[in-house]
Amino acid sequence: MKTTVKTLLTESPVDTEVVVKGWVRTKRGSKQVTFLEINDGSCFASMQVILDNKNFSNEILQKLRTGTSVKITGKLVASPAPQQPVELQGTKIKIYGEAAADYQLQKKRHSFEFLREIAHLRTRTNTFGAVFRIRNILAKAVHDFFQERNFIYLHSPIITTSDCEGAGEMFNVTNFDLNNIPLTKNNKVDWEQDFFGKMAGLSVSGQLEAEIFACSLGDCYTFGPTFRAENSNTSYHLSEFWMVEPEIAFGDLEDDMDLAEDFIRYLIKAVLEKGKDDLEFFDKRISKGKLKALEKLADAPFNRISYTDAISKLEKKSNKFEFKPKWGMDLQTEHERYLTEKVFKGPVFVTDYPKDIKAFYMRMNKDGKTVAAMDALLPAVGEIIGGSQREERYDLLAARIKEMGLELSDYDWYLDLRKYGTVPHSGFGLGFGRMVQFVTGMKNIRDIIPFPRTPGNAKF
Ligand code: 4AD
Ligand code: MG
Repeated sequence: MKTTVKTLLTESPVDTEVVVKGWVRTKRGSKQVTFLEINDGSCFASMQVILDNKNFSNEILQKLRTGTSVKITGKLVASPAPQQPVELQGTKIKIYGEAAADYQLQKKRHSFEFLREIAHLRTRTNTFGAVFRIRNILAKAVHDFFQERNFIYLHSPIITTSDCEGAGEMFNVTNFDLNNIPLTKNNKVDWEQDFFGKMAGLSVSGQLEAEIFACSLGDCYTFGPTFRAENSNTSYHLSEFWMVEPEIAFGDLEDDMDLAEDFIRYLIKAVLEKGKDDLEFFDKRISKGKLKALEKLADAPFNRISYTDAISKLEKKSNKFEFKPKWGMDLQTEHERYLTEKVFKGPVFVTDYPKDIKAFYMRMNKDGKTVAAMDALLPAVGEIIGGSQREERYDLLAARIKEMGLELSDYDWYLDLRKYGTVPHSGFGLGFGRMVQFVTGMKNIRDIIPFPRTPGNAKF
């Protein structure tokens, strides 16, 4: 197996000959010796390399600039410096590619906004290396969690004709010549002539398809990209984001919340266990106290409060908010953060929202006004999970679809699940990006996804 800086620093015996391949992060030294930091992205730390200048030509030494890619062979020795356990005494250098003199990542602080413009290079920085290693740990932990519990992983489609949230935020997928769109007699777009014979779009959620699986294969989950054409320019919204959506057969809202709690704690434990070096960086440089907060959360039970009670609590502090809290309105991020950061000082589920601000598929409560919905709120990010028990009663579901102005015929297959052996079931969606944001403490969701897609931007 290829050696990496990570394996060299943690596993390789000293006084052996080793090879390191990576990019020069920094170079310093004197007439006699050169010190290089070589980073290959495998871990936060770089490999310190020491070169005896007399063994190398000036030409080679000149080319070893920040950003240059190299292979260095040498002897691994115990390091006298406390920063690293070992260092490499280089004896042979191969340069793969010099970095041109205008390389943007010189040794100075760059703003995250600037680094977003050079997202093809930002992954070479400390911060973004750490973000994407943590993201990777979390992605694996998502699968581990559900696989350990025998959930079946399903690939829900990306192109779909169903708008799961019914919010009209689907991006269209079309094959029409946009300069010559076929029209019907009434001058409307004639979707029947389009590629799929119907208006199609990019999925906002894999939930509806996950329900099909849950109602046949049992507990299942999707984990994939979802898309929303909402014009939200906030630090928490992306136009393309990854979502984890489990669906549990024969489960109610309580089961759903129990699963969500276990899941979040599992993810946090996984990063604490496998991402310590990177977390220490976030704790020191990005979000002070993050490590302690995560450790506390790894064992903390979540609070639970109904929407109606939450609104009463918020109304008492009305003067604190830009949007005045009132029964019937959707909670804004400022309300969510107040509940989790100030009222509960920890994670909280808000349950039983008014039916009018939630999607058509949520199960109607006995009061006829609220639905069996739950949102999980975390400090710093607010809503991380949205979920519900699904309406499993045919008549009530059909009535809701009509009431919301949706076409029954568009949801015939969804209604069939209620016609042929319906079962209570529930599920949720966890915004994977917001989870990465929460764990790292990064302020903007654009900085935890490799290549952010937001209104006005789809570069790279
Ligand atoms: O609350 P949402 O819209 O719920 C659903 O889509 C359900 N169908 C999920 C389900 O029950 N299977 O989205 C779920 C989560 C939110 O809580 C949030 O964390 C995240 O997805 N999310 C976004 N993340 C980034 N950018 C956006 N534009 C997001 N919209 C939602
Ligand atoms: Mg939501």
